[in-house]
Amino acid sequence: MKKLISVDHLQAGMFLEASVVVEDRDGEETRFLEPLNAVSTGSSAKRARLTGKMHEKISNNGGLLVSSDALVTRLRETGLSMVTIDTDKGADLAEGVKPLTDPSRRPPPDGRLVHFDEEIERATEIRAETTETLTSALADVAEGKGVDTEKVNAASEVITESILRNVDAMLSLTRIKKHDPYTALHCMNVCTLVVAVAQADGVDPEYLPTITAATLLHDVGKTRVPLEVLNKPGRFEPHELEVMRKHAVFSGDIMREEGGFTEEQVFIAEQHHEMLDGSGYPYGLKGDEIHPYARMTAVADVYDALTAKRVYKPAMPMHMALMALHKNRGTEFDEHFVDLFVRSLGVYPVGSLVELNNKEVAVVYEPNPDNVRKPTIAIITTSNGRPRPAPFIVNLAKRSEAEGREVGKVVDPETAGVDPEEVIEAAKTRGERTERLRR
Ligand SMILES: [Fe+2]
Repeated sequence: MKKLISVDHLQAGMFLEASVVVEDRDGEETRFLEPLNAVSTGSSAKRARLTGKMHEKISNNGGLLVSSDALVTRLRETGLSMVTIDTDKGADLAEGVKPLTDPSRRPPPDGRLVHFDEEIERATEIRAETTETLTSALADVAEGKGVDTEKVNAASEVITESILRNVDAMLSLTRIKKHDPYTALHCMNVCTLVVAVAQADGVDPEYLPTITAATLLHDVGKTRVPLEVLNKPGRFEPHELEVMRKHAVFSGDIMREEGGFTEEQVFIAEQHHEMLDGSGYPYGLKGDEIHPYARMTAVADVYDALTAKRVYKPAMPMHMALMALHKNRGTEFDEHFVDLFVRSLGVYPVGSLVELNNKEVAVVYEPNPDNVRKPTIAIITTSNGRPRPAPFIVNLAKRSEAEGREVGKVVDPETAGVDPEEVIEAAKTRGERTERLRR
């Protein structure tokens, strides 16, 4: 049986599923080991070079038997975070150690290595830890101390790996908008959204942590904006607006002063308020003058700001924010990235409030990448509008569960007086399903 496992659990005696890649290095054919479904995001990511006739064995057998502890160490050193083993050809995991995805279930949806419910808990933890790291990093910078580059880079790798395992888990958490300091949370959300889109755009996984770290810090310059300006509820006076708009330049400055960031990462942070048509700030750059991932960050930044509830404005429903982006594609925003963004979030992002064809009201609970119009929902009212005692969880993609239900329209949670976040929490703890085991 093939099992996707964390590289921490790899041991001598296991059979590693792998193929061989051949590259031309200075006119010489060089062969590397390419483990199946492996994800390496580490800055230390180095591929294992194959010598002698190793490649023939690997190609014939579909992988190799990990013969020694030294090889295990060598494989870990290449920066891999997970690998696939075949337990019919080698040793199994130690008792009590679980693979990353349950091999007895149907395979995860396209482009995902594990199921949503297998990643969501880990993603929640990673997000909480990163937001904490970020909050203290922002506080440090505000006090004139430096950014802990190592910590930010380590966090970037962990986030990227979660997104590579199952992008929907981390993405679904961007709906959580309260209880946390705004800037740190906003940075975390923008980072998740940008990296999810970059992944959908086919960016090399090894490059993703570069984008992750840059977007995590894109607003770090806000720490140099006086608090009374930063938190001002009303409209800005012209001189205040000028200071506020400097935060993008400050972000770049801080990253340059700190060192350890590439010029590209600095550009991503510095240019995140530039608009495609030159109407943005601080430099009024246009089109290709703006770094591609700064253009992407601009899309995610506006989306997250629109959908956030602030003291001075209510949260805009997600579908309306997506429409606002769509309206400005090609003028303010890069068309390609807006399209990818909308596609990545799906028609009904997790946390959307929807009315069904039978008038029941529900909150989108889990996405369904195989059929975006049929997510798993938590139904909170009856057809007559009476509240249900506990959320009723239904996978619309399953005919036996859906019983003819379909999403009718999206509803504004603010107007309906529903807090989707609370519903999701309630669904987690006391949600009811007709079927306990989802295969
Ligand atoms: Fe910003």
